[in-house]
Amino acid sequence: MSRAAAARDWDAASYDRVSDPQFEWALEQLERLPLCGDEVLLDAGCGSGRVTAVLAERVPRGRVYAVDVAPSMAAHARETLGERATVFCQDLAELSLPEPVDAIFSNATFHWIPAHDTLFDALHRALKPGGRLVAQCGGKGNIDRFRRLAGAVAQEQPFAPFFVDWRGPWNYAGDAETTTRLERVGFDEVACWLEPKEVSPADPYAFVQTVCLVRHLDRLPNGLREAFVARVLEAAGEPFVLDYVRLNMSAKRPG
Ligand SMILES: C[S@@+](CC[C@H](N)C(=O)[O-])C[C@H]1O[C@@H](n2cnc3c(N)ncnc32)[C@H](O)[C@@H]1O
Repeated sequence: MSRAAAARDWDAASYDRVSDPQFEWALEQLERLPLCGDEVLLDAGCGSGRVTAVLAERVPRGRVYAVDVAPSMAAHARETLGERATVFCQDLAELSLPEPVDAIFSNATFHWIPAHDTLFDALHRALKPGGRLVAQCGGKGNIDRFRRLAGAVAQEQPFAPFFVDWRGPWNYAGDAETTTRLERVGFDEVACWLEPKEVSPADPYAFVQTVCLVRHLDRLPNGLREAFVARVLEAAGEPFVLDYVRLNMSAKRPG
């Protein structure tokens, strides 16, 4: 695996085990995507493929494409899904599918992508005229308390030298700016709104190691990673609650 790919990779098996909160959010969002069962769908940022499997059940006479930039996630999804979906390891900002799709679904992904204008333009181009986007990602204010704590621990020794001038991995956009961006690339019927959601993970260590601190841990040598996670959890105290804020969006490519 190239250094660039490794820098965007995840522990797919661990993510599959700990991602109950994300899975529940995805099921809630699916209520916002009416389907007849014969559509061609894209799961944008499919992760381990857990949510993609549900999408495939909803279109028994259709087709599902699943895209993820992380090699381990794409490999896990491909193995789990088999014939149920066609999986591509791609950056969504440079999305290229074999055919235009009727709908794009995305969960817990867009906040990992720095340039939302480029992303939304790529998604708009991937849709058929009249096609729909239904997505949710981290939004403005997401895990603010946890981010502050992790940022403070990253300034402590022996971790500080590995985080000099690092701005963090996330792009937590607001609802108004996202509405503007979606309209600017050509979507209409745009609706975006923020939704606070508290999460108490069943296994805080595994959850933050796999999800919230995944890109922090990339920067640290192996020998410091466990100590960093433990120190962040110690600073967070108990009970461990993550103050998630989700950014919902729905939009239509004009028909
Ligand atoms: C928290 S996981 C969500 C996975 C899945 N959608 C779910 O709900 O469980 C975020 C995923 O976004 C993927 N991702 C991040 N940036 C991406 C990009 N630029 N293009 C494609 N996938 C990306 C990551 O590799 C990761 O699998």
